[in-house]
Order: sequence, then structure tokens, then C-alpha cells
Amino acid sequence: MKKIFSLCLILLPAVAFGNAGVHLEHVDIDLKDKPSLQRGAKLFVNYCLSCHSASYARFNGIGKDLGIPDDVMKKNMLFVSDKVGSYMRVAMDKEDAKKWLGVAPPDLSVIARSRGSDWIYTFLNSFYLDPNKATGVNNTVFKDTAMPHILWELQGWQRPVYSESQHGDETTKEISGLKLVSPGKMSEEDYQVATRDLTNFLTYLGEPAKLVRKKVGLWVILFLLVLLVPAYLLKKEYWKDVK
Ligand code: HEC
Repeated sequence: MKKIFSLCLILLPAVAFGNAGVHLEHVDIDLKDKPSLQRGAKLFVNYCLSCHSASYARFNGIGKDLGIPDDVMKKNMLFVSDKVGSYMRVAMDKEDAKKWLGVAPPDLSVIARSRGSDWIYTFLNSFYLDPNKATGVNNTVFKDTAMPHILWELQGWQRPVYSESQHGDETTKEISGLKLVSPGKMSEEDYQVATRDLTNFLTYLGEPAKLVRKKVGLWVILFLLVLLVPAYLLKKEYWKDVK
């Protein structure tokens, strides 16, 4: 029994830090930043929705949460057949996608909850040229991913920078950073802002109720604070005779 217990203790950190060795960039998530969420939604619809669905989300639900009027949504975000009330589904057939890409692109409704915001942000910033891959790219946080570098047009292309370390007779070569070798339409800073917006939107998508919950939470606390006054007075009144 003791042995099993200590084995668990040893294994636990290994499980908890499954991503060990991969440095994740921190991203500031702000679900109150509506302009950022709106820009993220637009990027998502234009660049991601062709492969990934977000089938728990409805366009007009998102519009309402993020303050995007129906007509703006229709003009900027909907493709021909979508109605504002429809769910964010993809036209691509899952089987076809698997044939073309090797892996069917997963639904992204709750991806920020399973992977975490920092992971997504780093993933979108970590595609690099790799001639050995069918897509021409690889990724430092998601090795050998089947996803192509969809945002290349905005970011451009990065090449890995290697560092060598010596362990006894063996030299190991590791990627220590990425360097932009051919710029895209955006500057490096603007691309970071764009991927932060996208990550912000995906985080919101994981839990749209968060926006409402935070608002409700504030009222609940205010209500409890107000309630404190009569409760205190009542307590004083009750204990007056006991003491
Ligand atoms: C050409 C189709 C395609 C497009 C467009 C695309 N992806 Fe992907 N994506 C994939 C595939 C395929 C995978 C699965 C990769 C794997 O498992 O190796 C994937 C995986 C992912 C994952 C990791 C999911 C996991 O397994 O945890 C994230 C996050 C992601 N995509 C985000 C995005 C975002 C954000 C966009 C828009 C900027 C986007 N993708 C656009 C094909 C696509």
C-alpha cells in the first residue's frame, strides 16, 4: 500500500506537468475587453471556422454577449447560408477533413478550458518552417501537429533557432527560439495582439456564462453587504436580554 502511495506521489507531478519542457507565453485574458473579443470573433470566423466548429455557440448569442448587432454580424461574419440564430458549425465533412489533413480538426468550443489560454496563445505564435512536414510547418508546443500555419498571411514565416548542449559525448540540438524570416501583413506586435484577441475570444467561448456570472457575483456581494446591517442589528436585539 505504502509503495503504491509513494508511486502515486512520484507520478503526480509528471501528470500535472505533462507539458514540461515547453515554455508557455503568458497571455493577459480580459473578458471585459469587448473590442478585443469582437476582433477575436472576427478572426475566428474568417480564419478558423472553415475547419473548426464551435458547435456549442450560436452566432446571435455571441453577438449579444459581445455587443455585435445582428446586421453587422450578418455582413462581417456570416457566410451565405448561415442565419444569425444558427450554431457555429463547419461545412467541411469530418471524414473529408481527416482524409485531407490526417486528423479531423477538433471542435473549439471548450478548447481554452482543456488546453488553457496560455497554451493556445503560444501555439498560435509557435509555428515554424519544417520541410519534413506535409504542411511545411511544425509547432514547438504541439509537435508534429496536423494543423497548417493558417495565419501565415498575417504573421509571415518563422525559422527555428537552435542551441546545442553537451551531455558527455553527446551533443543535443534543441530549439531555443523562433525567428521571423519573412514578414507577413502584420508587424510582430500586431500579430501578438491579434493572437491575444483570438485567445481571448476562445476563452470567452469556453464559458460565455462567465461574463454574466461575474456581473451577478458583484450584485450578490453587494446584497450580502447590505444584508449585514439588519443582520447585525437583529443580533444585537436578540442578545440584549440574554447578556
Ligand atoms: C485547414 C484546416 C484548419 C484551420 C483553418 C484551422 N485549424 Fe486548427 N487544427 C486543424 C487540425 C487538423 C488540427 C488537429 C491537429 C492535430 O491533432 O495534430 C487543429 C488543431 C488545433 C488546435 C489544438 C486542438 C487540440 O488538439 O488541443 C487549436 C487550439 C487550433 N487548431 C486552433 C485553431 C485556430 C485558433 C484557428 C484559426 C486561426 C485554426 N485552428 C484554424 C486544422 C485547422
